[in-house]
Order: sequence, then structure tokens, then C-alpha cells
Amino acid sequence: MKIVIYPGTFDPITNGHLDIIYRALTLFDKVIIGILLNTNKKPLFTTEERLEMIEKSIEGIKNIEVKTFDGLLVNFADEMKASAIIRGLRQVSDFEYEFQMALMNRKLNENISTVFLMPNEKYTYLNSSLIKELARFKADVSDFVPEIVNRKLKEKFL
Ligand code: PNS
Repeated sequence: MKIVIYPGTFDPITNGHLDIIYRALTLFDKVIIGILLNTNKKPLFTTEERLEMIEKSIEGIKNIEVKTFDGLLVNFADEMKASAIIRGLRQVSDFEYEFQMALMNRKLNENISTVFLMPNEKYTYLNSSLIKELARFKADVSDFVPEIVNRKLKEKFL
């Protein structure tokens, strides 16, 4: 059974994340979405809110689970018996940080590989920060996020 971890802050989950998840499901038997608990990014949404939004967005999809984790990603992957980590690559500017992280994770645990997936090109300019900024200024983000996220963003920025 090939298990892969898809880690991130998911503040909030976007259609770009979902695109990566669907692709990962064609390559692995099981995808575990790992929400990082202690991030210095100061998330807009609480962990519970992010968890709920992800769970609603993936309702009905098989071979997928959502968990939270703390500490090192490779340790979480090991605990979950995962052999790989998925990261999405949208553009060249993502590469430097992702490459550094992938190599460090490999140094920490040789048995866990990082697999990069490219989302559909319509999502290459998308990220959670941009979505939050648009939503804050009441722009329509319904093309970019699942329904539940759109609703939660509207509630946050009433
Ligand atoms: O998509 P994001 O929000 O940039 O995700 C970053 C994440 C969660 C993948 C990264 O911060 C992480 O793995 N944090 C856990 C701590 C860790 O293992 N750090 C060492 C990475 S080399």
C-alpha cells in the first residue's frame, strides 16, 4: 500500500490544492492531508476551521484522510507509514524553497521521497494568501475555492 502525505497550512484549501490531491490519488493508494499545527504564518482560520473545510471539500472521495501534525514532517510521514511527500509546483519561483525542503527532508529520512506535481495551468497563479486578500476586499473568489471555503471567507470578512 503506497501512502503519501500532502502537507501544508491550507489557510484555506483552494481548488489548486484539490487539483494536486486528485492527481496524487492516481499515483498512490492513499493520500493523507497533513495540516501543520504550529506554524509561524499566523493563519486566518483556526485548525478546526481548516480541518472542517478540507473534510467538506473532499467529502465522498475515497482513499483520503485528513490529519493534523506537529514537529517534523518526516516524522509524521514515518508515523503514517508514508513513503512519499507530495508538493505542488506552480511556477519557477516555488522551486528554490521546495528544492531546499525536499533535500533537507531526504537528509533527515532517506526512505521518504518528495514528489512534485504540477496543477492544471489555470491554478498556477493561485495561492491561499491571494485568495484571502481578494476575499478581504470582497472580490468574488468562487472560481478558486470550494463552496464551503467561499462561504467561510464571506463570514470572516463580513
Ligand atoms: O504549503 P506550506 O504552508 O508552505 O507548507 C509548509 C510545510 C508544512 C510543508 C512545512 O512548513 C513543513 O514541513 N513544516 C513542518 C516542520 C518541518 O518538517 N520542517 C523542516 C522542513 S525541511
